[in-house]
Amino acid sequence: MSLLETRNLRKVYKTRFGGASVEALKDVSFTVEPGEYVAIMGESGSGKTTLLNILAALDKATEGTVILDGMDLTGVRDKNVAGFRRDNLGFVFQEFNLLDTFSLEDNIYLPLVLAGKKHAEMKGRLDPIAADLGISDILKKYPYEVSGGQKQRAAVARALITHPKIILADEPTGALDSKSSDELLALFKKVNHAGQTILMVTHSVKAASHASRVLFIRDGVIFHQIYRGQSTDRQMYQAISDTLTVLARGGGRSCGDRTGNAGSGNAGSSHVSTGNAGSGHAALGGDRR
Ligand SMILES: Nc1ncnc2c1ncn2[C@@H]1O[C@H](COP(=O)(O)OP(=O)(O)OP(=O)(O)O)[C@@H](O)[C@H]1O
Ligand SMILES: [Mg+2]
Repeated sequence: MSLLETRNLRKVYKTRFGGASVEALKDVSFTVEPGEYVAIMGESGSGKTTLLNILAALDKATEGTVILDGMDLTGVRDKNVAGFRRDNLGFVFQEFNLLDTFSLEDNIYLPLVLAGKKHAEMKGRLDPIAADLGISDILKKYPYEVSGGQKQRAAVARALITHPKIILADEPTGALDSKSSDELLALFKKVNHAGQTILMVTHSVKAASHASRVLFIRDGVIFHQIYRGQSTDRQMYQAISDTLTVLARGGGRSCGDRTGNAGSGNAGSSHVSTGNAGSGHAALGGDRR
């Protein structure tokens, strides 16, 4: 069973004062399997944050469904949404979203405090994560006392500490210098190898080249995807760049209706793909639960 499934998501923003409405998502269907690391790319305004907000239950789709681990998000009552989010999802944002009046440690504990966990349990969870992320020595510091990269690592710790089913990240490297950005990507790779499912929106080809699959969104539909297969990061980088070049020229064909069929092997035949994408895809498809 897929960990995450979206079916025919549509989102229309109604502007106030009777202005024109915006159809940010037209028809988005895709699935994410347990343990996958999926990047979502697309031009500014293509609907990436809108999609992530809906997956995060921060916003509601106008039409369509989101199913996380068998649970229909649209079926979660409003009063239970915060708890659902806390228990199932981890977030990493471009701007870190840490509270300045809390130490890094207290920021990281926050979701567990809200869930009513005891201090001993919180500490038991934090110690190995902090060691892994290399932030054990700075936990007592405040966000304004540490670097952007350190803030982002604390934000990743806050996302991981609830043992979320999936991590949703919106431009997590957007505010980082290249060194911190590389460190964060290495970290994501590490937690993904340890089994954590990740869905990351990014503008960065380099960031996306670390993922096991890249979805391309344009004008509110997913119209292309690349599977890593056996490709190296470098080959993946090239395949993503090639796709973006085709897109920038106005090329590319829609495969919005095909993404739901990812398991049946269509994606590997996409017009721009890595040399190994087809075989890698077949392996993924064959192993589907
Ligand atoms: N709250 C809102 N009310 C009205 N329109 C909105 C709202 N949020 C987003 N939009 C519009 O929906 C479309 C998609 O926006 P979205 O923020 O999802 O894009 P994005 O792909 O995340 O862009 P970026 O890469 O710049 O972050 C845009 O046309 C945007 O102007
Ligand atoms: Mg955005």
